Amino acid sequence: MSLRYDALKILSDGGFHAGTQLGAALGISRTAVWKHLRALSELGLDIYAVPGKGYRLAQPVELLDAQAITSAMADDARALLGGIEIHPRLDSTNTYLMQQAGSGLASGYACLAEYQEAGRGRRGRNWVSPFGANIYLSLLWRYTLDPAQLGGLSLAVGVAMARALRAAGVDGIALKWPNDVLWRDRKLAGILLEMSGESFGASTVVVGLGINCRMSKEAGTHITQPWTDLEKILGRHLSRNALTALLLSEVLPVLRDYQTAGLAPLLDEWQSYDAVRGKTVTLQLPNQSITGVAAGVDRDGALLLTRGGVTQRHLAGEISVRVA
Ligand code: BTN
Repeated sequence: MSLRYDALKILSDGGFHAGTQLGAALGISRTAVWKHLRALSELGLDIYAVPGKGYRLAQPVELLDAQAITSAMADDARALLGGIEIHPRLDSTNTYLMQQAGSGLASGYACLAEYQEAGRGRRGRNWVSPFGANIYLSLLWRYTLDPAQLGGLSLAVGVAMARALRAAGVDGIALKWPNDVLWRDRKLAGILLEMSGESFGASTVVVGLGINCRMSKEAGTHITQPWTDLEKILGRHLSRNALTALLLSEVLPVLRDYQTAGLAPLLDEWQSYDAVRGKTVTLQLPNQSITGVAAGVDRDGALLLTRGGVTQRHLAGEISVRVA
């Protein structure tokens, strides 16, 4: 990947670059340049070859840059960052951090990728992750809490994500329990929490965050639910480095505070983003489905569902809004 990535750095300005010039800069033949660029196209990048002019990207790409991200972060959040790695390509940033969790990484360690070969969503779904187009970020945090006390963490992270998106100029963000980030009922972003090496009284959590920034039409055909991206919402390009800085600035303090305060201080804010409160929804459980009126969430992160005047708590499941 490294040669390809170097080629991409040259092409990222969106201008034409002759094959000979690229070959000379990379120390490879023109044929090898062509092969590397074809491989980049297969990762989802639109690269044009024009005889006599050379190669160019259909659109300039702003590559992720650790320095640009950290310098744009809020000071208090920067102090919480345990380290940052940016990879051109990974199977999944969550899988990677889960594998590294045993090697002593500090709380607040961040991993980003330009491309995920096997990006993962909730419930075993695939997370469509084309190159250089979106944000794929995972964060590690260590808690001296039992896994059972972490039920509200993904909702807390949802609030932090909504704050970051608002700070980026996106109005109308909604959260659908447990942690879908929606805009006008379309999926804009997702959160995948995984625990690694938990033992009684101690848990290591990997928090995976995916935000659709500029999903190509072709990549979008692989998404199996209504979706949107930031460019469609805002009608303009948004810097991924700036957005990552906003995201880290909001999420890291929330991860820290959860240890002592849990979800409670964020509960009202979560309810203000609730996409389904007051609506009739169906909760899908492994062996049954339950229909009732969504009545918000509690401080453990449980969904409250009212049926026949009785409100019950649900800690797991998938909800869909029932169309009348
Ligand atoms: C969802 O299904 O809503 C959760 C999607 C989470 C996607 C992110 S992208 C970064 C991290 N790495 C993964 O493989 N998944 C998460």
